[in-house]
Amino acid sequence: MIPEDVFLKIVRRAVKAPSGHNTQPWLFTKEVNGICIMPDFTRALPTADPENRELYISLGCAAETVMIAARFYGYKAKLNNDLLDNQGTIKIALSKNDETEQAELFSFINARQTTRNLYTNQPVSMDVLTQLKEMVAEAGVEVAFYIGNEARDTFASYIFEANNIQMSNQKFKKELIKWLRFSQKEAMQKGDGLYAACTGLPSLGKKLGNFVVKYFITPRSENKRFLQQFNKASTIALFTTPENNGENWVRMGMALQRFALICTQKGLSYSYINSPCQIIQVRDKMMNDLPFAGFPQLLIRLGYSQKMPFSFRRRIADVILK
Ligand SMILES: Cc1cc2nc3c(=O)[nH]c(=O)nc-3n(C[C@H](O)[C@H](O)[C@H](O)COP(=O)(O)O)c2cc1C
Repeated sequence: MIPEDVFLKIVRRAVKAPSGHNTQPWLFTKEVNGICIMPDFTRALPTADPENRELYISLGCAAETVMIAARFYGYKAKLNNDLLDNQGTIKIALSKNDETEQAELFSFINARQTTRNLYTNQPVSMDVLTQLKEMVAEAGVEVAFYIGNEARDTFASYIFEANNIQMSNQKFKKELIKWLRFSQKEAMQKGDGLYAACTGLPSLGKKLGNFVVKYFITPRSENKRFLQQFNKASTIALFTTPENNGENWVRMGMALQRFALICTQKGLSYSYINSPCQIIQVRDKMMNDLPFAGFPQLLIRLGYSQKMPFSFRRRIADVILK
């Protein structure tokens, strides 16, 4: 069994993984031969993520982070052959490693963030894109890059259609509002959710913030925001998996976290334009129209920008199941 202090150190890093709406839908246990990560369905997003697809992608991000941290602390980390058991749990076997392994991505775990501001006109080099593509492929996931006008022309209509559906859906907005944290105090106290300062929204307080989201964030304002995010150097990454099931979602999460940590290492910012992958009829349309194989899981924007404030995390004691 790994010592308690090592377990806590690993979990402290694992919770820094990204998750949809920063719900942190995970629970960790220390087992005789390693660490288990369980889904916490009380933190699911039934409207934005009815299949729990993004929930399992988030668990995959946490699993990858556990493995990177475990290697850094001197353990060999191995995933169970069946990525998910019938409870949806991910098991990671850990054994002491006598040789020190390079864990170069470890130091970027705390520095990674979803950066939602505008990016500069500086293009991302082909060398970096090739490295990212090869690394993602190792996890059984494909990524295709679309640059500049090609990116806008390929995805704009799907993004508009999906934004229109999402932002006209009062249930979607209600769920979003539940996870928005409009003041630093609330964000720190709860330790989860979308802290306004990380999304580019001003610190308005709960009442005014909810009012603004309810009445001023509309399909039109979202589409305008998306168009502003495009410039001639924009790089859009479309991630696809061979199948659309739990195992593929976990693999997607593992690839995403590696991708995000390499971006951080290279000084690149990234953020999500996910609505076309979230709305099933738009996702189906993209699959029919565009020349890629497999299921679209995530649409991500890449580029260079200033860092933004960091999001908060829950206390470790709240994510460990005794
Ligand atoms: C599967 C998944 C889907 C996400 N979808 C979106 C999204 O559609 N829009 C967005 O702004 N952020 C999205 N995020 C980013 C999360 O909101 C972010 O990870 C979380 O708020 C924590 O912030 P951090 O990544 O800066 O640590 C997503 C993250 C994951 C893992």
